[in-house]
Amino acid sequence: MEQRIALVTGGTGGIGTEICRQLHDDGYRVVAGYYSGGDHRKAEEWQAQQKADGYDIELAFGNIREWDSSEACINSIRERFGTVDVLVNNGGITRDTTLRKMSPEHWHDVIATNLTSVFYMTRLVINDMLEKRWGRIINISSINGEKGQFGQANYSAAKAGMYGFTKAVAQEVASRGITVNTVSPGYIATSMIMDVPEEIREEIRKTIPVGRFGEPSDIARVVSFLADEKAGFITGANISANGGQYMH
Ligand code: CAA
Repeated sequence: MEQRIALVTGGTGGIGTEICRQLHDDGYRVVAGYYSGGDHRKAEEWQAQQKADGYDIELAFGNIREWDSSEACINSIRERFGTVDVLVNNGGITRDTTLRKMSPEHWHDVIATNLTSVFYMTRLVINDMLEKRWGRIINISSINGEKGQFGQANYSAAKAGMYGFTKAVAQEVASRGITVNTVSPGYIATSMIMDVPEEIREEIRKTIPVGRFGEPSDIARVVSFLADEKAGFITGANISANGGQYMH
């Protein structure tokens, strides 16, 4: 069988890096999508570090909140490596603030980057997957899409929106060997969490029954499981990995 190609958006970030490494270990040819505000050098340094650690990961530039840039990203991957078999929609941002202070920019930035991007990237790979009659779409949502979070009306709305998208598309493509699922991480020890003021962060930690923040590898393992050939009966599902912080 030909080596499958996996694209991880936000691939150079905290959780993204670990997903890239895990999928590399699983035998995929891995492409890390990055934007970094156009800071190509930062991404190249990241790539060099991965290589030094034994991980040969390709890079693909694209601003996932813009259709044209997303399309150019997918086209360049198709030309350089082939069509995407596994798409992990992992890229995202926070603009935390209470609703009374939330500006239209706070709202649109988060909806565009975290939710509209999922439509763009999935739309851009789905026809190739339909033609191949195989594919895996894995959308990284959040515990805060499931339960809501003080200070995250924009983020919670975007992450909750992913569930509807996932379940609708899962139905459309199920007969063609393509699965579409969400993974909902709880609080994972990455820079996104470290941006939360320390006293609030500590209060949040106390509400996690396993008594710690998650590790990126806790999420990468779930992605690996869903991407596997043998996970073909799991579609339209959500897998929470949150240390027991939210059960439903
Ligand atoms: N529940 C209820 N009340 C709360 C509260 C909470 N969780 N947190 C703060 N408050 C209260 C404060 O006690 C304060 O009350 P008083 O006015 O009576 O003193 C009031 O709300 C503060 O309101 P402000 O609008 O002034 O808020 P702020 O500007 O001080 O801070 C915030 C707002 C920046 C959103 C801050 O609360 C915060 O950072 N919260 C954490 C948000 C969070 O969890 N983000 C997750 C980031 S990680 C991630 O997103 C990844 C993932 O998927 C899990």
